[in-house]
Amino acid sequence: MNFYVMTLFPGMINNAMSESITGRAIKAGHISVKAVNIRDFADNKHNHIDDYPYGGGAGMVMQAEPVYMCYRHICTQIQDSPPEDAKPLRVIYLTPQGRTFNQNMAEEYAHEDNLVFLCGHYEGIDERVIEEIVTDQVSIGDYVLTGGELAALVIMDAVSRFIPGVLNNCISAHKESFSDSLLEYPQYTRPENWRGKSVPPVLLSGHHRKLEEWYRRQSVIRTALMRPDLLEKADLTQEERELADRVVKYGREI
Ligand code: ADE
Repeated sequence: MNFYVMTLFPGMINNAMSESITGRAIKAGHISVKAVNIRDFADNKHNHIDDYPYGGGAGMVMQAEPVYMCYRHICTQIQDSPPEDAKPLRVIYLTPQGRTFNQNMAEEYAHEDNLVFLCGHYEGIDERVIEEIVTDQVSIGDYVLTGGELAALVIMDAVSRFIPGVLNNCISAHKESFSDSLLEYPQYTRPENWRGKSVPPVLLSGHHRKLEEWYRRQSVIRTALMRPDLLEKADLTQEERELADRVVKYGREI
């Protein structure tokens, strides 16, 4: 997976992505990240890439041409001579007006060879270049950030986890919260007794079937307690559904 990020703050992207698991994935060649500075495509000696909005109003708007030239630069890097059957390039504009990002979208994006992100700043970007190059408008939640960089980082991080080799345990991206509309069960590690709180005995039993049953039951209980909205889509047995209903009704396991 090659990530390209059109941004005014390439340092934000490079610094964050070079840490931790994504940093290791870059070094191992599983993913690549190229932050391209939109300001490098300014057409004036002051390197301005924004201007006043037509019609008036507060703030500045990013101009279409530097964004477009930045995009064209990335296109030439990706596909000097695209094959006939090349998939159209996915260009994701980060905006609170977009579709809210979720785990299914992360998995879907992970199937692409290349993903391009467009990070806006100021009051927005000239609509004409958005119409021209953007394929997806995505939000990471109902709040307004100062720019799209943090949102692009969130999406790249979540997508990277689905790229083979990025997580050392290849099933772990699937077997956890949201994978089947259930949250993950609680985890424990040593010591067995911490400040008077013991680890649930079943976890020490080494009984594989009982463990699997406990994990599943805890996932159902947790989802019912913390995210009952997810239960609608979850594939539950009749017994699990009754358990979930009781937990929702009484606020605890009954
Ligand atoms: N840019 C500003 N706020 C945003 C948000 N919530 N999601 C994505 N991009 C944004």
